[in-house]
Amino acid sequence: MLSKNITVSADGTLLFAGFNTVELANKYGTPLYLFDEELIRERMREYKNALTDFFSTDSVPEYASKAFSCKRIYEIAAEEGINVDVVSVGELYTAYKAGFPTGNCFFHGNNKTDEDIIFAIELGIGCFVVDNLDELYAINRIAEEKGICQNVILRVTPGIDPHTHKKISTGSVESKFGMAIETGDAFNGVEAALSLSNLKLHGFHCHIGSQIFESQPFVTAAEVMVSFMVDVKKMFGYTADTLNLGGGFGVRYVENDPIINYRERIEEVAVKVKKICENENFPLPRILMEPGRSLVADAGMTLYTVGSVKEIEGYTNYVSVDGGMTDNPRYALYESEYTVYNASNAGAEPDYVATIAGRCCESGDLIQENVKIKKPCRGDIIAVATTGAYNYSMASNYNRVARPPVVMLSKDGDYLAVKRETLDDIIALDV
Ligand code: LLP
Repeated sequence: MLSKNITVSADGTLLFAGFNTVELANKYGTPLYLFDEELIRERMREYKNALTDFFSTDSVPEYASKAFSCKRIYEIAAEEGINVDVVSVGELYTAYKAGFPTGNCFFHGNNKTDEDIIFAIELGIGCFVVDNLDELYAINRIAEEKGICQNVILRVTPGIDPHTHKKISTGSVESKFGMAIETGDAFNGVEAALSLSNLKLHGFHCHIGSQIFESQPFVTAAEVMVSFMVDVKKMFGYTADTLNLGGGFGVRYVENDPIINYRERIEEVAVKVKKICENENFPLPRILMEPGRSLVADAGMTLYTVGSVKEIEGYTNYVSVDGGMTDNPRYALYESEYTVYNASNAGAEPDYVATIAGRCCESGDLIQENVKIKKPCRGDIIAVATTGAYNYSMASNYNRVARPPVVMLSKDGDYLAVKRETLDDIIALDV
């Protein structure tokens, strides 16, 4: 099985976090998102402890909540004492309504409107991660109007591409995010930030991409960033106290992906970053990291019910399920790989090559092509593993399909965190 929270019961049904998936499908209906709460908590602690153990006691992870956002996940993050990264007022509002301390929220994004900035300041946002000069001036102006001094860090593009999928690589110079060191824009940003009296500059942020399994790209990014911080110190006499290394450690979607130990990876980064700072004679800053998928991806699983098995002889075996690109658009968008199980018959040897098709009126609505599973029949439950990140958060109502509910699996039992959308929800905003 792909990960330790996926097992098979004596009667051959798939268990997730020790829960019987077929029973959960009967209880809550399908499609259904499941989340292993204990694994999420374990991961949050792993990052938090590693950052404080290997960097400094004020170093802390920020959960990149674009990966999976609903009130419950912010409650869990608050209970585990980690910060969160929000990229919209929608995420910020969700965190706020969940009782998450907004002072521990970092507001990202490359286009924050004046309304966004006002809303975030009124809610007491901890820090803006400033993308560009226009935004910097806007935050200063609004902070002045509100009579406050706003904490900010600047997003800098270090010019590194760790060669992941083009659409999820963000650290290169031509990226739409941040201010590039290479072009001098990052230095202009620092000069402006230091000159504006309603801003308190704490340091810098970079994010080089997603689904990175090695520590080296983070070390390379840190090297570039520390040398930038040294130059900034020389030029402006300003010593940054915070360095945010972004998100991006990878997760295991298929058997071929490596199993990585996040604590060990963070230790590897820490050892090298400390050396870099020592060599540059620069005080070790507070290190922040923004894991998204590595906190929630393999804590998630999606269940579907099979509607038909259609064999086009000499071509493809389609197994059609009652969800698809509306609950998981990642294969349609990025051809992302997933591991699929026939949850009703998970003990049996996989004997059938199938393409798992969604129900939308679109040929590209596929969950996965040519996966090996035990041959299913109508009514069987199909489970797709590692769907905790960028599935629910990227779900849509295309074809007016209702979004599935989110069920948490905890040590106290299973419970609903997000309800299933109803047909009336679908038309709720229509006038
Ligand atoms: N920090 C920043 C500034 C980011 O842009 C991202 C992801 C993260 C942190 C979290 O990265 P993670 O640890 O989750 O890899 N929709 C795509 C992913 C887009 C990621 C965008 N930024 C997908 O489904 O793969």
